Amino acid sequence: MDASVAQKSLFLETYGHFIGGAWVGGESGKTIPVINPATGETLSHIQAGNASDVDRAVRAAHAAFKTWSRTHPRQRQLILQEMASRLRRRLAEFAMMETVDNGKPITDSQMFDIPATAEVYDYFGALPLHIHGETTDFPDSILLVHREPLGVCAAIVPWNIPLYCTALKVAPALAAGNTVVLKPAESTGLAILEFFRECADILPPGVVNIVTGYGPEVGEPLVRHPLVRKVSFTGSKPTARKIMTYASENIIPQTMELGGKSATIVCADADLDAAAEGVVMSTIFNKGEVCISGSRTFVHESVMDQFLQKLSDQIGNVRQGDPCDPRTQLGPQASKIQFDKVAAYLELGVQEGASVLAGGKKAHIAGLEQGFFIQPTIFSDVRNEMRIAREEIFGPVTCILGWREDEEVLEAANASDYGLGGGIWTSHLTRAHRFAREMQTGTVWINRYYNFVPGQPLGGYKQSGFGRENCAETLMHYTQAKAVIVNLTEGPLGLYQNG
Ligand code: NAI
Ligand code: MG
Repeated sequence: MDASVAQKSLFLETYGHFIGGAWVGGESGKTIPVINPATGETLSHIQAGNASDVDRAVRAAHAAFKTWSRTHPRQRQLILQEMASRLRRRLAEFAMMETVDNGKPITDSQMFDIPATAEVYDYFGALPLHIHGETTDFPDSILLVHREPLGVCAAIVPWNIPLYCTALKVAPALAAGNTVVLKPAESTGLAILEFFRECADILPPGVVNIVTGYGPEVGEPLVRHPLVRKVSFTGSKPTARKIMTYASENIIPQTMELGGKSATIVCADADLDAAAEGVVMSTIFNKGEVCISGSRTFVHESVMDQFLQKLSDQIGNVRQGDPCDPRTQLGPQASKIQFDKVAAYLELGVQEGASVLAGGKKAHIAGLEQGFFIQPTIFSDVRNEMRIAREEIFGPVTCILGWREDEEVLEAANASDYGLGGGIWTSHLTRAHRFAREMQTGTVWINRYYNFVPGQPLGGYKQSGFGRENCAETLMHYTQAKAVIVNLTEGPLGLYQNG
């Protein structure tokens, strides 16, 4: 697909909020331009929502809940399955939307974003008939435990993997019989809006509502709204802290999927070619704008020189450029803000005394001078105390650290505020399992990074958040238990009768 043609025909000029099954203007009348980060061009405009728009959306979701929560599970199953197939049917278009909106290479969108999103709707589409309670028999009573939906769920999603992060929240919420008010990130909501235009005829009005706009103007009143019964959030730690404060007002449960500084451990007996490929992939995939990217790599000292050679050879072959070109492997950062943030860390790494093995600068791409490109960057000679090894950079940047003893590397890997992902490269079976068990993190990939499989719990230890998405446990977070106890004996107990 020719990129310039694609961009014009993919989007409307302006999008409304999606409330109660209709596309409506915002109360303020203000809009926000949405920019293509590769070219700096405006792709479309979204509504700059406010508390009054949020109130309308929450009321629509609340009204829809009464009927939706009582639908036959089979109906919810059919709808979720249809959502998956509509994504697949227009895979090329949705992939291009994510690419021009966010800057991710088109092959990433085609191979990951869209198929993985469809898989999430499929996965939760299979579950409505499996949401059931349990019974326990006692001599003179029966305990019935029902699992009931919560009500209106707020979903606040980030800009790095928009459709996928949305599915991780919307699919389980709907499967369990909840209704949703969704707030996409202000910089990248277009594919989400287009996807719900596509699905508007199969979703009963009010079951999913979308209010676009800035975090403080839309996200805050949404989480504080007295009719909202749960919030799930993916994004940064500072924003998570605020959302937890808002959620404390009406005492609502939260799912938090936050950042990471995930450790990859390369052992001396690893397949070093495969490990180097894995480290390059986890550095550049989605421009490094992935919460679970392996951004600290611990390499055994005995293979350090050999490994760095392989790494610098492979990273030197990464094709950076126009994200719409199928040959491109590394696109621009999603926004100017992110570009500036990553660029500042490139300078900081040098100031902190790290060596630059590869990259280290902003990249200039001929014909895309306005794009937010960063060279794929490897810092070597990094120490765990440096800020570049402790803070989430969220760009195509990896830190290399050395290690000698097993205990030493496990301690260093775990010496992080975060615990989201992790990788182990070794041919030693018992060491692989021992390390995996010791790593304080939500996901460990052995001998292949980013090996996502359906139903894999996604979520973090420590400050990477709490609650798990993408798995059966997720349904527990979108339902609550009700105990009904049936007495099997006849008549009163006789406690207060005369005589
Ligand atoms: P952010 O956490 O501020 O944005 C995520 C979402 O939260 C967006 O929809 C945003 O509009 C919303 N939001 C912002 N302020 C809010 C508030 N007061 N109340 C309710 N909602 C609010 O993340 P940001 O500032 O865009 O990115 C900063 C850094 O966060 C990144 O550089 C990266 O390190 C990290 N991040 C991590 C993500 C992950 O996947 N865990 C995703 C996005 C960002
Ligand atoms: Mg922000």
